[in-house]
Amino acid sequence: MNELVKQITDLVRSQGLLMKSARQIENNSDNIKVKPGDANFVTVYDEAVQNNLIKGLKEILPNALFFAEEKDNSSVDTTRGHCFIIDPIDGTTNFIHDMGASAISVGLFLDGKPYIGVIYDPYRDEMFYAQTGFGAFLNGTRINCSDRTLDKALFSFGSAPYNKSTLGSEAFSLAQKLFYKTADIRRSGSAAIDIACVACGRTDAFFEPVLSPWDYAAGITILTEASAAVSDFNGNNLSLSIPSSFLCSNRVIYRELLNLIQEED
Ligand code: IPD
Ligand code: CA
Repeated sequence: MNELVKQITDLVRSQGLLMKSARQIENNSDNIKVKPGDANFVTVYDEAVQNNLIKGLKEILPNALFFAEEKDNSSVDTTRGHCFIIDPIDGTTNFIHDMGASAISVGLFLDGKPYIGVIYDPYRDEMFYAQTGFGAFLNGTRINCSDRTLDKALFSFGSAPYNKSTLGSEAFSLAQKLFYKTADIRRSGSAAIDIACVACGRTDAFFEPVLSPWDYAAGITILTEASAAVSDFNGNNLSLSIPSSFLCSNRVIYRELLNLIQEED
């Protein structure tokens, strides 16, 4: 493992321990704040993990920029120099409900190009990481996406919970359509975990009508290095600065999925 990847994964793992130390967050209202949108929350742990990550990553790469979920990013140019795109806790609603299904997601970009991606699920102690050109790994073992066909595929989807009034029906109508063409459907509550599952071939596809760059930044590098396809619903590269629709899948079914999505419009 490259030294920079090791430094980042060590730091991320330490913050996973902080996540796991949380107990009964829902029982103390001081722990939780409401954010704009439908049912969108932030906890004191999201803020603590984010602050600790930024502090530690600044020691590793002093000139890097930071684009992160729980901070103001208006002056951050994600296409310049080293830029970390961070979701301190992906699956915050799961975290509040003590579901044990949340992850830390850290993507590093160099001049807007994918460089390093790290997704850590502290509950399963699963560290997914990739560096462009060097493959994708899970706890040190090389991973690749699946080659299942659509009829055998297991796919997961996100319900766009913070935009349910505008995008909820699109999410469920597409999920219903795919449900009848595939083996079955899953909804984990963490886009980062859904993405990691496609990268290592547990599932075959994941989509959500809208995600933010911190939800998928690390995933772009991990998916690409695992030979999966990743794009927005139009087949375009994902934005690193504004929310976007999101699709990733193995390469056997990617075009078929894009066509099914586009038929919906
Ligand atoms: C959310 C989760 C969820 C997805 C939402 C995301 P957050 O991230 O990934 O699965 O449906 O769209 O925003 O807010 O818990 O970091
Ligand atoms: Ca989050």
